[in-house]
Amino acid sequence: MIESLFPRPVVTLEATEEMWSGPLLPEEEACLSPRAVLKRRREFTAGRVCARAALEKLGVRDFPLRAAPDRMPLWPPGIVGSLSHCGDRCGVAVAREGAIVGLGLDVERARPLEDRVVALVCSETERARIASLSDLPAGLAAMAVFCAKESAYKCHYPLARTFLDFHDVEITLEPGSGTFTATILKARNQEGCAVPPRVGVLRGRFAWSGDHIWAGVTLTAPELQPGP
Ligand SMILES: CC(C)(COP(=O)(O)OP(=O)(O)OC[C@H]1O[C@@H](n2cnc3c(N)ncnc32)[C@H](O)[C@@H]1OP(=O)(O)O)[C@@H](O)C(=O)NCCC(=O)NCCS
Repeated sequence: MIESLFPRPVVTLEATEEMWSGPLLPEEEACLSPRAVLKRRREFTAGRVCARAALEKLGVRDFPLRAAPDRMPLWPPGIVGSLSHCGDRCGVAVAREGAIVGLGLDVERARPLEDRVVALVCSETERARIASLSDLPAGLAAMAVFCAKESAYKCHYPLARTFLDFHDVEITLEPGSGTFTATILKARNQEGCAVPPRVGVLRGRFAWSGDHIWAGVTLTAPELQPGP
């Protein structure tokens, strides 16, 4: 199912049951806090084992996927990727860097976003658009917006190393085609000051699969603004 979120050169893989229990490579183990609870250990492990299996499909074998201090995964040189996990589902998307320069993937449980969270995640404009969608209940549409924003963040951050708040990104869902756009209104540096985003608009796809919703963003080279 995740493959439907990305164009063809992107390799995607969903974690199998066995991948949630390992094994981790020593360099990966070192990135996991010794105090990590079992849930965290299992999701981290699923991400790593699944990522290594996906990288093998690109011809990269036994690559230890370490994490930067900010948690960003450190993909092999010349590879872009993203991973996501959510309790019982985990997926990875990877591609050789070239025409594709960034990927973002997110999975969430497909339940309506709680009312008190909707205002934190969605702007007034987004809430009005959600309310006007006839084929998607508002709470579920808000969850789709949340999932799309998380995927956009994971695509944008590795390129820009800047932060995005929920209201810095505006999502337009097209439920008929399962596509969305993420317009980056502004980005923020470490100090929280506004800086120009590296991307104006990210394009993505979303899909429901059983009890989950997945969102994937692909950034191509011409869409990337020049760096500072
Ligand atoms: C990074 C973030 C989006 C991850 O989401 P999450 O709900 O914790 O969980 P997910 O399973 O979907 O994704 C986690 C994975 O994303 C990856 N990730 C973490 N930080 C990342 C970053 N800065 N850039 C890219 N990928 C990142 C990691 O691989 C991580 O898994 P791991 O720690 O096991 O390696 C989120 O935790 C975060 O930092 N949010 C702050 C910013 C935000 O949400 N802004 C609003 C959206 S516009």
